[in-house]
Amino acid sequence: MTNTPLDRRSLLRLAGASAGTAMLAGSALADPARAAATTFLHGVASGDPLPDGILLWTRLTPTPEAQPGSGVGPAAEVTWQVATDPDFAGIAASGTQQTGPARDHTVKVEVSGLAPMTTYWYRFGYQGVWSPTGRTMTAPAPTAGVDRLRLGVVSCANWEAGYFAAYRHLADRGDLNLVVHLGDYLYEYGTGEFDAGGSVVRAVRPAHEVLTLADYRIRHALYKTDPDLRALHAAVPWAITWDDHEVANDQWSGGAENHTPATEGSFAARLAAARQAYFEWMPVRTGPNGRIYRRLRFGRLAELSMLDLRTYRSEQSSGTGVDDPARTITGDDQMSWLKSGLAASTAQWKLVGNPVMIARLDVGALPSWLLGPLGALLGIPQNGLVLNADQWDGYNADRNELVDHLRANNTRDVVFLTGDIHTSWASELTTRSTGIQNPAAAEFVVPSVTSDNVDDFLNLPAGNALSRLGVSLIRSTNPHVRWTELDGHGYGVVEVTPQHCRMDWYHLTDRTRAESGSRWVAGWSVGSGSSRLRQESTPL
Ligand SMILES: [Fe+2]
Repeated sequence: MTNTPLDRRSLLRLAGASAGTAMLAGSALADPARAAATTFLHGVASGDPLPDGILLWTRLTPTPEAQPGSGVGPAAEVTWQVATDPDFAGIAASGTQQTGPARDHTVKVEVSGLAPMTTYWYRFGYQGVWSPTGRTMTAPAPTAGVDRLRLGVVSCANWEAGYFAAYRHLADRGDLNLVVHLGDYLYEYGTGEFDAGGSVVRAVRPAHEVLTLADYRIRHALYKTDPDLRALHAAVPWAITWDDHEVANDQWSGGAENHTPATEGSFAARLAAARQAYFEWMPVRTGPNGRIYRRLRFGRLAELSMLDLRTYRSEQSSGTGVDDPARTITGDDQMSWLKSGLAASTAQWKLVGNPVMIARLDVGALPSWLLGPLGALLGIPQNGLVLNADQWDGYNADRNELVDHLRANNTRDVVFLTGDIHTSWASELTTRSTGIQNPAAAEFVVPSVTSDNVDDFLNLPAGNALSRLGVSLIRSTNPHVRWTELDGHGYGVVEVTPQHCRMDWYHLTDRTRAESGSRWVAGWSVGSGSSRLRQESTPL
């Protein structure tokens, strides 16, 4: 889809316009810009675009005591508007929505009746104050021809490890149709438990590990005070899924590595709290029973299947269980939904929003100096196990079932977009049934926005000789890994056209600085009909 470009100057003008027009008719405010900043402190967001609709989000602070997680404050009615222009001269849809302390004063509006493949501007109002203005766009009609789609792709944003400059660089681009967030939008740890290689760049609130509903709400609210995060939400619709840290490290259906029932209470209660806060605070559409795996379609060009790989999975296995056909990472219903959706799709490109890596990663031949930091990064037990049991490697039967199904149905043009592992990868998806020359799909893995990776664990500078040696050792034992980089933080940009699907990787110059620059480091693509990766020599 070719969207209307919005450059940085226009975005700044928008920000100014929303402050300058912060008055609703009939009210008087001494400082409308300041009122907007406090009443709508946590910004605005949109998500899950449909051809005729969009999900809008904000959080209202109606009174000073109505702080996130407080459970206090009045019931309130919020006005919302969707317009075809940034000055709100042409109103396309409008309405009101109730909120209050029972939902932490968050507001989610399902807007319908919009035109396909159209850019809109939106805002919320409360007692004479307008929120900042957001920009969003609907998806193309399901049968529409689309010549180009561009996606920002991100995962793993750890507050204590640095600033979210990656989000700012994506917000500044002006060419994105969607941001795909693959999870670890936030981390559950207390201050100092997971930071920037041993030092806290900025401290989290609450200071302790989040456990209760109030804790999760406060942590979500903290993240949405970050100006770069707010800017990216306000600039582009997002499609998000969760990984483990939205609840607790190495979460599975019945528990998590970082949950101790004896001292932290029941996992079910913690999970319910984390899910409630997530649904309140994130622009995500939910199905029955809080189901978030879902599919978004972008004309005939592409479909995006967003997976949930935490809610239904079996416990991580530390042994031969990785081959047990009774164990699952997707759960039966999601696997059926994924297989049938991919095989039956009438969209050309089948993108899969995949929180954890699906390509095999054999680290058995790696030396201990690399296995140490890589193991810490991957969560590999230091007991001789040579794979990361928390990614698809720990659930071989599900991976084989999915790949065999793609093969049996001759399903082509499948690309996995992946996060979690904090490092950058371009891989071809092979299993015993495919062979190295005939991969079933391609996988592009984005680095973390800020979370520690190999150089941080080694306590060496980015691009050091040990990290580079690690790359060549990984590639020698994993030839389906066509490219990897273990030190950079940043983001990916995916371009989808009828001819190709490619990702470009951009790395930050310094994650600990809010004003960090970013630079292009690599581009890899697959052509239609092939899952073999090609290296690109110039940026998009
Ligand atoms: Fe992470």
